[in-house]
Amino acid sequence: MKIGIVIGSVREGRLGESIGEWVAERARVQQDAADVEWEVLDLKTFELPVMTDENWAQDSDGPAEVHRWRDAVDQCDGFVFVTPEYNRNIPGAFKNAYDLLSRQWRDKTLAIVAYGGLGGVRANEAWRVTVAAYNMHVVGASVNLVRRVDFPGGELALTDHHDASLAKVLARLVSLTRAVTAERERVALSASN
Ligand SMILES: Cc1cc2nc3c(=O)[nH]c(=O)nc-3n(C[C@H](O)[C@H](O)[C@H](O)COP(=O)(O)O)c2cc1C
Repeated sequence: MKIGIVIGSVREGRLGESIGEWVAERARVQQDAADVEWEVLDLKTFELPVMTDENWAQDSDGPAEVHRWRDAVDQCDGFVFVTPEYNRNIPGAFKNAYDLLSRQWRDKTLAIVAYGGLGGVRANEAWRVTVAAYNMHVVGASVNLVRRVDFPGGELALTDHHDASLAKVLARLVSLTRAVTAERERVALSASN
């Protein structure tokens, strides 16, 4: 199975890139199982347009950027959303990327690594409400990074405590994704028979 680590900030000078790299590096070391592949999906590299047509992902003449994003998400069984908090909510560009797709999210799993002045807790909660529509299964525990504490001088300062809290969340994500993927495939198979 494949798990996508989505870097959800596209801002110049973003902290999100270093956090995403940390999550990917730790995931590959801590959760080194033969059946798990980790892939970074950096939103900035997809250069997605603002959604003005909800059918772009399905339409053969939809924007190529949207189709590339669709295919990358489609190939994943679960996700880690590395999300900042903007104005007490999900960043607009990240929500737009989510809104561009639909069934590619359905019945998959999610773990949240949030950050901001108060650890990104409001973006974290907003995601949990948002992804419920596509029946995504979200790990209850999350990683919350507090800007003044965890980024002294503007750089991510990691401790064993960070690695331990991430390990707990990722281990749960992997076991949940195995179960949810098996169930999703079972349902798809019985629907096709
Ligand atoms: C437009 C904007 C709005 C923000 N609003 C909040 C907020 O409501 N709560 C919060 O904790 N931090 C807020 N912040 C601070 C961000 O969480 C912090 O700058 C973080 O580094 C942003 O992630 P990024 O650097 O990966 O883009 C805001 C930042 C921006 C740019």
